[in-house]
Amino acid sequence: PEDVGILGIHMVVPSTFVDQKEYEAFHGVPAGKYTIGLGQDKMGFCTDREDIHSLCMTALNGLVRKMGISYADIGRLDVGTETIVDKSKSVKSVLMKLFEESGNHDVEGLDTTNACYGGTAALFNAISWVESSAWDGRLAVVIAGDIAVYAEGSARPTGGAGAVAMLIGPNAPLVMERGLRASYMAHAYDFYKPNLSSEYPAVDGKLSIQCYLGALDSCYQTYCRKARKLSALTGDSSNDAVGINSFDAMVFHSPYGKLVEKSFARLVLNDFLSTPLERVPEVYPNLEKFAGVKLEETYFDRDVEKGFMSFSKQLFCRKTMPSLLLSNQVGNMYTASLYGGLVSYLISKPVDELGGKRVGFFSYGSGLASTMFSMKLVSGPKLAQLVSQLTYVHDSLARRTKVDPADYTAMMAAKEASYNKAPFLPTASTDSLFPGTFYLNEVDQMYRRTYGQV
Ligand code: ACO
Repeated sequence: PEDVGILGIHMVVPSTFVDQKEYEAFHGVPAGKYTIGLGQDKMGFCTDREDIHSLCMTALNGLVRKMGISYADIGRLDVGTETIVDKSKSVKSVLMKLFEESGNHDVEGLDTTNACYGGTAALFNAISWVESSAWDGRLAVVIAGDIAVYAEGSARPTGGAGAVAMLIGPNAPLVMERGLRASYMAHAYDFYKPNLSSEYPAVDGKLSIQCYLGALDSCYQTYCRKARKLSALTGDSSNDAVGINSFDAMVFHSPYGKLVEKSFARLVLNDFLSTPLERVPEVYPNLEKFAGVKLEETYFDRDVEKGFMSFSKQLFCRKTMPSLLLSNQVGNMYTASLYGGLVSYLISKPVDELGGKRVGFFSYGSGLASTMFSMKLVSGPKLAQLVSQLTYVHDSLARRTKVDPADYTAMMAAKEASYNKAPFLPTASTDSLFPGTFYLNEVDQMYRRTYGQV
């Protein structure tokens, strides 16, 4: 099959949020710390009525309905998540409930977990299946979804929640570029969830930033090297001078917007360091003094950061800012964050400005796993339909219910107390949920969960 990639997308955001300005005041931190310092305006969250199963059911059901397909048309379903409610039973197995009516139980694929990276591993698995000898001609679905919550402290305002369902198949309007994937995987304790009786991660904030930036440098350099090699092999010169200008847009995993802005500048720093010295004054005026800096010594170097952020500001606004809408309005959605970035980009401009564009992606999951890859957007009715079926996201964001930080805090305390408890009856109202949303009815004494739909 040719042009394997994404045929359709459905994005689910929570219907409740905390305003970050109010959250700054509530926490007694200086005004601007979350909104400007982290780049976050609103933080979406789920009440005890939603869990990872219900979020993914809402996403899957929304995708199947909008694409006008049947559950029998799906031959593979991969879920990427780090929101674990069962150490054995997969989220995918729960989603099979939605397939029952169609009678289709011949569906490959399960869950993949490594922090925020699981969605990307799921996507690669689904694409590989379509490209493989095991493919039976049907469609694949990938769901990336998470509920991101942190213990009280500096990480708490970087929470969020969301799920993205993607339909995968051949002749797609969003085509995964072949032979152009660059990964960096290593062992690190930057963010992990070793306490199985808590929903919260253990986080070394500073180390997580250093790991993220180091992985970015490595993936970018490997991507550029592979691209040059590919163009030498194929004679296609479009990859010859790989650098930030080879991408029309660059989408990053976004724990918070400010880190993405810094990461964009870092790609420009990488380009700068691979530029022949004699060309530096012409291409990078006023940055000559940074010639010869070592990447691994600059993760927290304020001068380098400032220099390259201001130099790359306009490029950032053009190539990456449009992909930050959902990050800014919902927060970190872990596995869904990168694909929420793609959705944000797709709904940021008229569709005739999207055709022919090449989009770069940087996926990062602590622990750590990371990959840079790219897609090409193919002009035509399929792209137009994919994008027009996503514009509802603007309405969803606007129709959410704002919750007072004190109420959010009380709700989180109640969630902590009931975590892993059975039997359990959720207490939050279903009134604020968007139509079509699946919600948790109860967890019985055998830990079995049942769901309803608004
Ligand atoms: N106005 C404007 N900016 C402000 C203000 C203010 N009043 N006050 C502080 N700031 C800025 C700071 O200067 C800083 O920006 P800088 O880094 O550009 O200097 C920013 O706000 C954050 O302030 P810090 O004091 O550095 O924040 P803190 O240490 O409290 O926490 C952190 C930040 C580490 C990101 C924390 O939120 C965290 O641990 N988050 C979770 C981990 C994470 O997301 N890691 C990223 C990769 S891993 C992953 O995806 C989960």
